[in-house]
Amino acid sequence: MSTRMLVAPVPQSSGHPAAEVAHRDLISIQDLLPEEVRALLDLTALIKARPADFRGALSGKQVVMFFEKPSLRTRLTFEAGLSSLGGQAIFVDQTRSRLDERESLSDIARNLERWVDCVILRTFEHSTITGIAEHASIPVINALSDLEHPCQALADFFTLEEKFDDIAKVTLAYVGDGNNMSHSLMLLAASLGAKIRVATPKGYEPLAEVVAAAKKIAAKTGAKITITNDPVAAVTGADAIYTDVWASMGQEEEAQQRAQIFEPFQVDEELMSHAADHALFMHCLPAHRGDEVTDAVIDSPQSVVFDQAENRLHIQKAILLMLLGGGLRRFRPRSTNA
Ligand code: CP
Ligand code: NVA
Repeated sequence: MSTRMLVAPVPQSSGHPAAEVAHRDLISIQDLLPEEVRALLDLTALIKARPADFRGALSGKQVVMFFEKPSLRTRLTFEAGLSSLGGQAIFVDQTRSRLDERESLSDIARNLERWVDCVILRTFEHSTITGIAEHASIPVINALSDLEHPCQALADFFTLEEKFDDIAKVTLAYVGDGNNMSHSLMLLAASLGAKIRVATPKGYEPLAEVVAAAKKIAAKTGAKITITNDPVAAVTGADAIYTDVWASMGQEEEAQQRAQIFEPFQVDEELMSHAADHALFMHCLPAHRGDEVTDAVIDSPQSVVFDQAENRLHIQKAILLMLLGGGLRRFRPRSTNA
């Protein structure tokens, strides 16, 4: 019997949605079925409420993090989160060269799976993450690519669920660039049966294939996805307004041109005035104050940006527990007794 078998095995076929996710990847929101998203959000609530119950749940687990781009929140919340679960993160600063510059992704993957339990990647090309996942037998987590930022979107909808009773009744307006953030938020809104309106300048809409995928999920869940070029139409009556930088990491040379094109999409007090009175302001951060959002809005009582940032910690602990399996044995019985 291998040493691994002596450690409580993950209940692979228990039928519990959290168990079904064990040993899989989280590269896109589409990797999770709606019931698995629900299980993840419920586990996150439990971890946030009772962090001590999960101390040591990933004892002995090692995770490697390759980041081709800078990070404050994602890096620190994964490192702090894993450490509080008893595991260890090994950070590799990959900002000076692309991951596949020295050797092939398949060779890297086939090394990593011999040493560690999970790989977390922040990359320019989404295909770098899928390339590692294709060849690694261990779970792979997307910590942001040009296509998606699933961990952030999960923290954002967890935040919305903390603020509103019924997510199916919530309308989220995303105003700005049709980028990685807009993609993951759209797919997650679809999965949760929420309503999302995405307003971008012409030519900066979210990718058509992601919109189509979100609409396909929405047809089953009752979610509503609207794409528009009119920011006022998007925010009118909305429960929350979300924005992100106009030039993402890797698009710095376009920043000046984008600043002019995106100017009508700035979230200021005037734009917020079209939303519901109770409307929240959301941003994944880092914010470029004075561009996509004014100080008056991001520093207002309506702003929940630091709640979102805090929830990155809790959601990522839940993601690690679900994918690495170590938390289920604690999560299941204790939640029953709660
Ligand atoms: N929101 C987010 O992912 O922040 P970092 O780029 O600092 O990780
Ligand atoms: N769209 C932004 C998100 C940063 C968290 C970027 O990719 O740079």
